Amino acid sequence: MAALVVVVVPVAARGAWPAPARAERGIVASPQALATRAGEAILAAGGSAVDVAVATSLAVAVTEPYGSGLGGGALAVVHVDGVTTTFDMRETAPAAATRDMFVKDGHVVAGESTWSARASGIPGLVRGLVAMHKRYGRLPLAVVAAPAISYARDGIPVSERMHAAMAAYGERLNPAGRAIFLTPAGEPWPVGALLRQTDLARTLERVVASAGEDFYVGETARTLVAAVHAEGGLWTAADLAGYAVKERPPVTGSYRGYAVHSMGPPSSGGLLLVQMLGVLEASDVKGLDFGSAAYVHRLAETMKRAFAMRAHGLGDPDQFPVDWARFIGAGVISRLRRDVAGAERATPAAELSEVDVKPTESTHTSHLGVLFANGDAVALTQTVNLGFGSGRVAAGTGVVLNNEMDDFSALPGAPNAFGLVGDEANAVAAGKRPLSSMTPTLLLKDGEAVGVFGSPGGSTIITTTLQLVLNVVDHGMDAGAAVGAPRVHHQWYPDALIYEPWALSADTRAALEGRGHALTLRDHLGNGSALWRAADGRLEGAADPRGEGTAGGK
Ligand code: GLY
Repeated sequence: MAALVVVVVPVAARGAWPAPARAERGIVASPQALATRAGEAILAAGGSAVDVAVATSLAVAVTEPYGSGLGGGALAVVHVDGVTTTFDMRETAPAAATRDMFVKDGHVVAGESTWSARASGIPGLVRGLVAMHKRYGRLPLAVVAAPAISYARDGIPVSERMHAAMAAYGERLNPAGRAIFLTPAGEPWPVGALLRQTDLARTLERVVASAGEDFYVGETARTLVAAVHAEGGLWTAADLAGYAVKERPPVTGSYRGYAVHSMGPPSSGGLLLVQMLGVLEASDVKGLDFGSAAYVHRLAETMKRAFAMRAHGLGDPDQFPVDWARFIGAGVISRLRRDVAGAERATPAAELSEVDVKPTESTHTSHLGVLFANGDAVALTQTVNLGFGSGRVAAGTGVVLNNEMDDFSALPGAPNAFGLVGDEANAVAAGKRPLSSMTPTLLLKDGEAVGVFGSPGGSTIITTTLQLVLNVVDHGMDAGAAVGAPRVHHQWYPDALIYEPWALSADTRAALEGRGHALTLRDHLGNGSALWRAADGRLEGAADPRGEGTAGGK
């Protein structure tokens, strides 16, 4: 009889989560299976990491139009040939925007910065993707954009999430939006129905034929301006023509031997992430044990301090000097390490600052990642802000118009839709970029990207990305387990430790309450993805089981 040979393969720790996708040359993850498939097709055709990212981004714009799209913006961290840069394609306030445009009699006018035509900033996604592609693309833009165009022209099946978004936001859509995203009877399209976006397909074709310029100075630009004007918005031809993509250095830090490269201002994400990792590096995160009260308490105390600092001095770096050292300087990290380590009980939010704000709610936005075995990578988060942005589609273009103006502090100290507050640094001003929480992030080893992380989720983006990194680096999870594992969130105000179902056992909750935490259950936090180069050199990736995403590669 043959002897039974037990082969023990060293693998990363994992629970019952679906196994990650694995690949040799390159891997891509996105929140929509069809978008991931678009990226995989471009990978198979010999595209660069940036080609794959641009193809996936455009396909996400078509398949998740309630989360992001041509009428919105994005932030991307790109690592090619050993060099990291970031592309800031964030929306800008139109030239006619003014500091108090959403304020009347000393109060923020409800809905003006979210559901009105004045809620839309000048979109940056198209020029940003074209700029990335011009610099780092290998295949023609027409090839890279082909999957997205065919999804828009030929149609895609309405997914569960798409249906849910149509049901949730359908009432807010303008007639041009209803004509696409609702049935003639005004109902959300049923799951499985074929959704065709023919105007969007034509817009994409013009974008490709003009290397993006039609969107800013051509037929699309003229149609966009006319549509926004007709509904009382502020856009002008000069606003679109003058939109500038900004290339900026990444925010950098290190964590347990990895270099962390993330997005700097106008996002708060990179600075807060690097700060929190710096604080937690002093803790035995693994030893605290995933899911224990001690671990969750340590996370919460770290998170709330970071978010308390977010409320001050953060905004568009081109209009307000942002002092990075105030967030990630060695002295600050040392102080925070001491404070967090010394916090036996939950520190009341009021002790961390005097601003008082109201509860938050979750939202949309889309994150995608690409990782190549040669060390190239892209982390890209794109958004129209809330579900279907401002609820307006520019008639004749199929373009969903963002409501990113709500990411400004309409009134210093007053919370936006995410319950986030800001000060003068993030006040509305002409041409200014609103503060973001998007946190596209790369981890590097020896100058090569080995990890790609990020998530949608408004204020929860930053803490979701943090936990993805901790899950892989400290808890030894593979990419599938890392994105699947339950998460927690604290954003200082509301002064609540938010947790997902199954994140905390009853006795863990009791222990946290005993330390003074007020607990709030939320059905889910984020919809991220993780890509990782495992110790054996193979690539693995997973999209969040909370959403409809997939990962795949070659
Ligand atoms: N609109 C969400 C964000 O940029 O954080």
